[in-house]
Amino acid sequence: MATSSTPSQPLQDRLAIVTGASRGIGRAIALHLASLGAKVLINYTSNSAQADSVAAQINAGSNARAVTFQADISDPEQVKSLFDAAESTFNSPVHILVNSAGVLDSKYPTLANTTVEDFDRTFSTNARGAFLCCREAANRIKRGGGGRIICLSSSLVAVLMPGYAAYVPSKAAVETMVKILAKELKGTGITANCVAPGPVATEMYFAGKTEEAIKKAVEYCPLGRLGQTEDVAPLVGFLASDAGEWVNGQVIRVNGGSI
Ligand SMILES: NC(=O)c1ccc[n+]([C@@H]2O[C@H](COP(=O)([O-])OP(=O)(O)OC[C@H]3O[C@@H](n4cnc5c(N)ncnc54)[C@H](OP(=O)(O)O)[C@@H]3O)[C@@H](O)[C@H]2O)c1
Repeated sequence: MATSSTPSQPLQDRLAIVTGASRGIGRAIALHLASLGAKVLINYTSNSAQADSVAAQINAGSNARAVTFQADISDPEQVKSLFDAAESTFNSPVHILVNSAGVLDSKYPTLANTTVEDFDRTFSTNARGAFLCCREAANRIKRGGGGRIICLSSSLVAVLMPGYAAYVPSKAAVETMVKILAKELKGTGITANCVAPGPVATEMYFAGKTEEAIKKAVEYCPLGRLGQTEDVAPLVGFLASDAGEWVNGQVIRVNGGSI
């Protein structure tokens, strides 16, 4: 006989921080984790209006479950404040970190033409930012089950395409760091993985790309299209859930078979 009780959701009573959640892939991940029952802190660095609209969309449900917080993930103090804000706002330890914040040099310079400033900017957000977020998470995420660290990398790490001589190494650094972290977290019940998308239709992807380059990416994909942010979010939701526990220390590429 059917009962009237609502089955609990996979991420009920879990608190997630999603960096770079004002736009793009991070936004879709925040919405998806909230749909699975998580309380979500939506991080951004400059687009407060877009972050607010993500929170409003989540909070339009019956229980308020999202807040926004501005923090530059390349700054250790701001990353600490990000975790402080999550814990104090929701009066809970953090269970899940998804680090989606990232930058790409839309000039796509060869290594010979990459400026030191652009190299540093790329590594500062993508590699140093991931390190700072992972470090804070490793020290503060709840022990004993359900703890999750998920970093966004890129399928380009497998392609080594010209024009990405700073971006791809910055993501390769994240992939190796996360694999080591997963081992170091032995005994905590916290898993650490990377999700590495192929081309996904976001501002980052379209910035500086020609129509021809976009057409080529579509033609190259066995599924004949660009990825959408909603193609990536369910994998992150699975990794964040109890069902995803056995996936640990991995880089999972999600690209429609392109790579
Ligand atoms: N799109 C793709 O094709 C693709 C493919 C593979 C991997 N990825 C990776 O997936 C992740 C998300 O990419 P996306 O396409 O969604 O990018 P996006 O649309 O450009 O969004 C980037 C997000 O990161 C935030 N951000 C940038 N620098 C930050 C910083 N220093 N501190 C905090 N937040 C910061 C931005 O905040 P503001 O809105 O405040 O600026 C924004 O929310 C990135 O790590 C990217 O490298 C993307």
